[in-house]
Amino acid sequence: LTAAGAKSPSPGRLPAPSPSLSPSPGGYAASDFGGAASDFEEPYIRLGGLADYVEGILRCRRIVFIACGTSFHACLAARATLEEFAAMPVVVELAGDFMDREAPVFRDDTCVFVSQSGETADTLRALEYAKNKGALCVGITNTVGSAISNATHCGVHLNCGYEIGVASTKAYTSQIVALTMVALLLGADRRSMTAKRLDHVRALAALPDAVRGALALDADMRELAAQLKDASDLLFFGRGYNYSTALEAALKAGGRGGGGRRLGGRVKEVALIHSEGINAGEMKHGPLALVDENLPIIVIATMDAMHRKMESVIQQLLARSARLIILCNQARRAGGRGDVPCGGFGAGLWFRAPRLEAPGDVAMDAFAARGCSLIRVPRTVDALQPVVNVVPLQLLSYHLTTLRGFNVDQPRNLAKSVTVT
Ligand code: G6P
Repeated sequence: LTAAGAKSPSPGRLPAPSPSLSPSPGGYAASDFGGAASDFEEPYIRLGGLADYVEGILRCRRIVFIACGTSFHACLAARATLEEFAAMPVVVELAGDFMDREAPVFRDDTCVFVSQSGETADTLRALEYAKNKGALCVGITNTVGSAISNATHCGVHLNCGYEIGVASTKAYTSQIVALTMVALLLGADRRSMTAKRLDHVRALAALPDAVRGALALDADMRELAAQLKDASDLLFFGRGYNYSTALEAALKAGGRGGGGRRLGGRVKEVALIHSEGINAGEMKHGPLALVDENLPIIVIATMDAMHRKMESVIQQLLARSARLIILCNQARRAGGRGDVPCGGFGAGLWFRAPRLEAPGDVAMDAFAARGCSLIRVPRTVDALQPVVNVVPLQLLSYHLTTLRGFNVDQPRNLAKSVTVT
């Protein structure tokens, strides 16, 4: 990954960019912000494109993230991390809705525009609007020289490579990583956060291994897709950091299911099956009425701060005979051996294995024994767990799409870059 350099600041309000960060002709200058393993030994993040603006951002009253589609979900995924490290109010807005309302923006706001393409019309319109109101405008894009990278005061380039498929995948995970790095940068002077910051920097260094572990689930996801390919509807339940994972998985799995009208919901047309991402905290306020033994529900219950609440959600769903697939962490095994229910896709079987350590692991195995399928992913810090969790769900969408004979790179009626409003 590399970060963007700075563009010229707003007159009278921001420090001049350092001479070493002069802008490239088409946007931010690129400067390296890490990659060497030794960088991860220090609990600090370098983002060349923001270096001269950190103080200005921290002086602001709030940070407003503005984006569309998958980029919006990435902002939701990182919101709690930004709030925690920057200790500032963070608002996340859909660009179109933001402009429909002509939402208030002030000179002491920082507005961050997140866009893979850097060309999305609604996001660009919101950028012009916020700039006219005098806000500090930051761009996070994957496209050097794009309209958004040109029009913002400063920013970060993802540099995750050209994304061919219409459905955003690697840009999504890279956006969460970049936004987490922005959070760590903004919280760099908070001594109370030093230990946690170091944990996160180390987790960033270990993230490629965790993602590789999630990619290794490909065959399992193909098998699961074969089981789900004829379903007309699919629900994803998540909470906290992983509410965004539920939304993003539903967007990727979404498609033309006959159930769209029956559920009265939004039909998201990326792959094929009608699907909804639901905040598990809202389960009792409507979604529970849909639950029966036929509707497949994927529950994201990795070992983060919401884990106990998600366990309770699973209990309540099981009490209604729900057909559950649970995305959870790989079990941490303690010494000794005992009979352990085999989760995976052969639920109901038992095998001799080392005893489990964490109570959450025991709970997951108990759910497997009650017929739930488990998708087990590697553990990382809460803030980065959505990066790992989304990978098997992206694989699931891929296999669902190909098994149903659709084109995974070019969903019907959709464009990679929406340049008209
Ligand atoms: C289109 C694409 C989506 C993307 C959204 C926002 O709808 O099909 O994959 O998430 O635009 O695009 P952006 O380039 O602004 O991230």
